[in-house]
Amino acid sequence: MADTDSLKESKSYCLDVPQRNEAFFLKGAGSLDWGMQNRLSRVFRPESGRTVMLAIDHGYFQGPTSGLERIDVNILPLAPYADALMLTRGILRSVIPSSYGKGVVMRASGGPSILKELSNEQLAVDMEDALRLNVSAMAVQVFVGGEFESQSINNLTRLVDMGNRYGVPTLGVTAVGKDMARDARYFRLACRIAAELGAHIVKTYYVEEDFETVTASCPVPVVMAGGKKLPELDALTMAYKAVSEGAAGVDMGRNIFQSDAPVAMIQAVNGVVHKLMKPEEAYDLYLTLKNEGR
Ligand code: 5RP
Repeated sequence: MADTDSLKESKSYCLDVPQRNEAFFLKGAGSLDWGMQNRLSRVFRPESGRTVMLAIDHGYFQGPTSGLERIDVNILPLAPYADALMLTRGILRSVIPSSYGKGVVMRASGGPSILKELSNEQLAVDMEDALRLNVSAMAVQVFVGGEFESQSINNLTRLVDMGNRYGVPTLGVTAVGKDMARDARYFRLACRIAAELGAHIVKTYYVEEDFETVTASCPVPVVMAGGKKLPELDALTMAYKAVSEGAAGVDMGRNIFQSDAPVAMIQAVNGVVHKLMKPEEAYDLYLTLKNEGR
């Protein structure tokens, strides 16, 4: 029973101060409910509106790829520098400490391995387990132009419906089919389809020509996938161009965990994404941290 002794009469109504309705910081998320926005705020930094997501979900179709052989050894030292980890529930439960306090973007699709047709995916996670794991978002591949295009897009829409029911955002990952041209025209199509069908975040690849039209024509945040391993300066330049052309950050895997100095590299990527460091400056930071073994 609350203590009702000596109740004081309330008197401070601040009548001259209208209640502020602060617009939510993330593109296309203004009409979402509090829980959805709160989960998105664990993936994207409110102060920059951008994210450095460390993608380590590759094993769901290609097994222990180079750099991911021992996630407990190779990846845990990187986790403090990421805003969010993109991973599978198997790695989350078996390797990531439950005290981890940043964003978790859980891979929710799966099925084919690299030995088969990758677009033939199904949903691979139950919503209840996603809630049990307290994830910040769920990720699903869409293979626009791929052999199982409709199936993958249906996976996205079912995940969006499941997530909307409980306030969990969906990240649509535009996977490029084997014989698809990686150009702005294709990524505009793929990103827009994902967003039109309900994705709250879209991940896609950077293209040198007209990438800004990809981000501008997508009504929700676009994050850049790192793609195959590049020299560090090239990867930092690509990240810089992507955020300069409207990306809300990056979701990089191989260009961080396959770097010669992953801890140095993720800190350099943070400099680019959150401080808009120029590539050369970020590369100098990378070299300094690498030489200092930090
Ligand atoms: C693999 C993925 C990865 O999350 C995505 O490709 C980012 O990783 P990388 O930067 O290594 O490309 O979707 O299924």
